Amino acid sequence: MLDFIRRKSWLGGWILAVAGAVLCILCYELLRRYDGHASPLMLPPAGRFFRPGETGICFAVFGDFRIQTEPFEAVMKSIRGSGADFALCVGDMSRKREIQHFCWLAERMKHAAGDLAVFCTPGNNDRESRDPRENGLRAYKGVFGQSGYWFAWGDSLFISLDTSAERLAAGELERLEEILKAERDRFRRLVVFTHVPPLDLRREGRKECLPAGEVDDLEALLREYRLSLFVAGHQHAEARWEFAGAPLLVTPTSGQRGEGKDPRYGYWLVKLLSDGGISAECRRVEAGDGTDMMAYFLSSRMNQTGWLFRLGVVLLLTGCGMICLLRPPDGKSDAA
Ligand SMILES: [Fe+2]
Repeated sequence: MLDFIRRKSWLGGWILAVAGAVLCILCYELLRRYDGHASPLMLPPAGRFFRPGETGICFAVFGDFRIQTEPFEAVMKSIRGSGADFALCVGDMSRKREIQHFCWLAERMKHAAGDLAVFCTPGNNDRESRDPRENGLRAYKGVFGQSGYWFAWGDSLFISLDTSAERLAAGELERLEEILKAERDRFRRLVVFTHVPPLDLRREGRKECLPAGEVDDLEALLREYRLSLFVAGHQHAEARWEFAGAPLLVTPTSGQRGEGKDPRYGYWLVKLLSDGGISAECRRVEAGDGTDMMAYFLSSRMNQTGWLFRLGVVLLLTGCGMICLLRPPDGKSDAA
């Protein structure tokens, strides 16, 4: 009887050792797989000129999906079929501020966007710390590069403004002024895109916008340099207001819970027309609110959860101990 129990425990030791080894290898491999070496970079087109001289431009504005893959991919599919030349993503893309999570996010975005160029700016949920003086965008920048940049498309200048700390990043106003001084006169139109809008004119008085003092300085600067259009996200509700003498568009969400009169997912489709006009249509997308939980767990949770790796080590050591100590006297197991 004792021999029988000993043989069974010895076999159990093998099972524990194999399970522990598999868990350790899986955790390690997922950490390595998403460490960035094999993930697509989505660097911003900083300082680039696309289609110089072109006068008619069509682009989409979306954001606030926090890796809800089902609605996000439905929105991207709709944008791809809309005729947009490119898309501006106004932030709040991630759920965890780890490089592995951002690498997976970039893979999903690249896959969903196909040939469509997507230019991003970070949101408050993409940064680790709300303190604008801290390196809160460490993981974001590892995949998406710098947060503030400009590029030109046709006859229009596009500037990304970093408001991921729910205020202007340190030195952002000065950077904006330098770009405007150097580049504004070369372009017919100026489009600024960012995460947090400068205004919140909803009646609830929630004030999900930039601090008042910063808004005054920003408005004065953008008025001086003839702002054409300002686009943002963050409020989870479609809005069309005015700021610094130009239209201000706030995009509905592409995955987070929507608010306002129409909480459905959606995006803005903007046309900068050849005659100088601007048309904007808020397009809605019907989709479930799910995410790919298995892919999310493997890419962003399992490899970030130290206790799973430690559990694997404990199982492996326990199993090895049982194999050594409970080895049957004749050296044969039941399975042999
Ligand atoms: Fe936000």
